[in-house]
Amino acid sequence: MGYEESINKQYGKSNLGAQILDTLRSKGIDTAKEIQETLAPIEELHLRGMSATLELIQESGLTKNMNVLDVGCGIGGSTRILVSKVGCKVIGIDLCEEFCRAAGLINEHLGYADNIEIHQGDALDMPFANGTFDVIFIQHVLMNIENKNQLFSEVYRLLRPKGRLALNTICAGSISPVYFPVIWANNPSISFLLPPKKLRQLIRNSGFKELLWRDDKKKVLKEIEVRRSKPPSNKPRPISLDLIVANTREKWKNIVLNLKEERIVVIQGVFERI
Ligand SMILES: C[S@@+](CC[C@H](N)C(=O)[O-])C[C@H]1O[C@@H](n2cnc3c(N)ncnc32)[C@H](O)[C@@H]1O
Repeated sequence: MGYEESINKQYGKSNLGAQILDTLRSKGIDTAKEIQETLAPIEELHLRGMSATLELIQESGLTKNMNVLDVGCGIGGSTRILVSKVGCKVIGIDLCEEFCRAAGLINEHLGYADNIEIHQGDALDMPFANGTFDVIFIQHVLMNIENKNQLFSEVYRLLRPKGRLALNTICAGSISPVYFPVIWANNPSISFLLPPKKLRQLIRNSGFKELLWRDDKKKVLKEIEVRRSKPPSNKPRPISLDLIVANTREKWKNIVLNLKEERIVVIQGVFERI
């Protein structure tokens, strides 16, 4: 199986967008506000979800009307935050066809179609002109990309001078191997984790000045602990992550174990294109 097929198999549940909207409708959740509130805890497929995105927005200095590219945008959760909270103009690109279709459908349903464009394609060869973007977001995507040199050369090409790269990623920890399956890979064939030191050097060598580099592992574990210590809600969620990601329980259990045993770490970084 080729790389693109493997990524689509990893993430792409068939007819996902319609399934999400139909499930919400069947539970009487129909207005844009209700849909947005219900999707908020599950539509961003990275650790600490919306909190991490809001932090990156602030740390990368994003302001209204900036042109932003969200690389590996998934079902478009972060693209909608970038529009609704900041007023950016956003393009999302993702290799997974079902995710792109779902993102497009949800955006249209919620009235975002004029501010967000979704493209299906590979981050290693993106169909945009040089210097198009003020900021490029990449959240929890590097783990699937082996040729990171090519990725950062594309990011460099697409950013205007002094444009910024806002990064949130999982890196290799001090212990190996990683326990699989995890959200980004069911096995090592599409998992390409670099140690933080190597990744940091690679980005600097690709023409970027570092503005922020932070290990968020402790913060992530603390948040998980706090959530677990709360009594279970007696009001079941109308929609769960299982609808979007297969085998969520086992993948989540492995991610927590990988974090606790230092097999993975979580890095948030901001870089400026020189
Ligand atoms: C763990 S998900 C994160 C999605 C989104 N960034 C978020 O945080 O909600 C990883 C995403 O990266 C996408 N992806 C992986 N490799 C890619 C590539 N080479 N080009 C574009 N997208 C890619 C996957 O299809 C998937 O949607």
